[in-house]
Amino acid sequence: MKKLFIGTLAACVLTSSAVYADAISDRKAAMKNVGMAMGAVVKIVKGEADFDPVVASLAFATMNNAAIGIVSLFPAGTETGGETTASPKIWSDMDGFSSAMAKFQADAAAAVAAKPADMGAFKAVFGRVASNCKACHESYRIAKD
Ligand code: HEC
Repeated sequence: MKKLFIGTLAACVLTSSAVYADAISDRKAAMKNVGMAMGAVVKIVKGEADFDPVVASLAFATMNNAAIGIVSLFPAGTETGGETTASPKIWSDMDGFSSAMAKFQADAAAAVAAKPADMGAFKAVFGRVASNCKACHESYRIAKD
């Protein structure tokens, strides 16, 4: 009986740490997608790539998708580990973090809906979406070099 209990406990500990590792790597992967989408539109802004409405809407849709539900990948217990750069402030101010993510998601969704057809319209929606990255990272991410 004792042996069974210890075995079950070990299985639980293993399971929960695996779940935590998944949450951290899943949220990092989602943010990596956001970063890649950002890279594509930054090239357009910098004039390194031509404005392409398909590329733009795909990039903003990727950001919108990544933001949906990502907050659930920050459960209690995932403050550290898995090379996370999440700031402890996320867990002390989950409401603030959630609303920052909701704003980012809404701005990305609005950028998709705006269907920018030229460079001027594109830059306007880009600016609104991009402001979210720095704002959130400064408050809720530990800068690592
Ligand atoms: C509401 C908050 C929030 C917003 C908005 C946000 N991020 Fe993040 N981002 C985070 C957090 C928190 C992490 C750290 C996640 C971790 O390491 O657990 C992160 C990590 C990252 C990473 C590193 C991923 C990795 O490989 O570890 C990249 C790249 C990134 N963000 C890009 C962006 C870009 C580009 C934008 C804007 C288009 C953006 N983020 C908007 C919160 C945000």
